[in-house]
Amino acid sequence: MSFNTFGHLFRVTTFGESHGAAIGCIVDGCPPRIPLTEADIQPYLDKRRPGQSRFTTQRQEPDQVRILSGVFMDEVTGGQVTTGTPIGLVIENVDQRSKDYSEIRDKYRPGHADYTYDVKYGLRDYRGGGRQSARETAMRVAAGAIARKIVPGMTVRGALVQMGPEKIDRARWDWNEVERNPFFCPDAQKAAFYEGYLDAIRKRGSSVGAIIEVIAEGVPAGLGAPVYGKLDGDLAAALMGINAVKGVEIGAGMGAAALTGEENSDEIRMGNDGKPIFLSNHAGGILGGISTGQPIVVRFAVKPTSSILIPRRTIDRYGNETEISARGRHDPCVGIRAVPIGEAMVAWVIVDHYLRQRGQVGESPAWPFTRSGG
Ligand SMILES: Cc1cc2nc3c(=O)[nH]c(=O)nc-3n(C[C@H](O)[C@H](O)[C@H](O)COP(=O)(O)O)c2cc1C
Repeated sequence: MSFNTFGHLFRVTTFGESHGAAIGCIVDGCPPRIPLTEADIQPYLDKRRPGQSRFTTQRQEPDQVRILSGVFMDEVTGGQVTTGTPIGLVIENVDQRSKDYSEIRDKYRPGHADYTYDVKYGLRDYRGGGRQSARETAMRVAAGAIARKIVPGMTVRGALVQMGPEKIDRARWDWNEVERNPFFCPDAQKAAFYEGYLDAIRKRGSSVGAIIEVIAEGVPAGLGAPVYGKLDGDLAAALMGINAVKGVEIGAGMGAAALTGEENSDEIRMGNDGKPIFLSNHAGGILGGISTGQPIVVRFAVKPTSSILIPRRTIDRYGNETEISARGRHDPCVGIRAVPIGEAMVAWVIVDHYLRQRGQVGESPAWPFTRSGG
């Protein structure tokens, strides 16, 4: 039984925990001759890294990735490329302060997986949460940087579109803004608002949730394997697997329930380039579990950080009622750091299906078809 591996042909296994020596992953099934150095991976890790602004935890983890295997010099280009063998990546854990864990050793932190790990395994690594810690998601981002390089012309971008009840104005969406503010927010005006809003929440010792939208463009039509390997199903599983994610939707998502058939169905016309043009994208780029060639649009909801300074009632592992509150470092909105993680998971899933499509179908059929035999 293995539950730390995701994907079929682009297969990622992660290992390690928050306070162990290191975290790492094996990326198996990556095609050969793809240029790859640490410099291709590090910028994405830097986006997820804690301590980037006052709006994320001040823990200092440099998250310096090392490629251990699966790369070699390409004789033609002289650059380093993948060899087709397992790519091993590792990040050493350097900020493991030896602190007093007596408070959380026995008490279950509400909103964390302390109780469920204990009731399942009979023990748990209480130092930073062990494997339940979102530290593991650094390896998702690292593997995602490799996934991004495989489908020609594909881009995967994410943005924070809501914090607490505060939504962005989609008319002001500007991808350039995402890089300019500490929230990965595409609406400059809303990002300015979030500064004061989140500061007030942080000062109260509280936290708030967020909604992240990820859009993958340049995804060929035909990816996804009905019926148990549907592209939307695998995207939902991949995103739901991120810590603190409580909801996933594709295209119109939950909102589709409020639409009529004529509002929701994406009408199709024929483009001059011989490809179909969809007049809207309520489907989020997926029909019948298969990509349409339109942008793939997914959103996921991240719950508010559970570790807050405000005391919460709980129990300990011996069944006694007690109270607990976080001390020191506290991240008022973990949804911010989930943006690069969501991008990575979307890239993993699409690449896995891209390779599966190549394996099963090979060359895509020449569409549109020519009518023959009346
Ligand atoms: C990037 C990231 C960082 C996180 N950091 C924290 C944190 O500092 N404090 C906290 O209470 N939860 C944090 N979480 C959420 C917990 O890991 C998560 O809520 C917990 O393990 C329980 O799992 P669940 O919410 O998926 O059920 C973080 C989540 C993400 C995605």
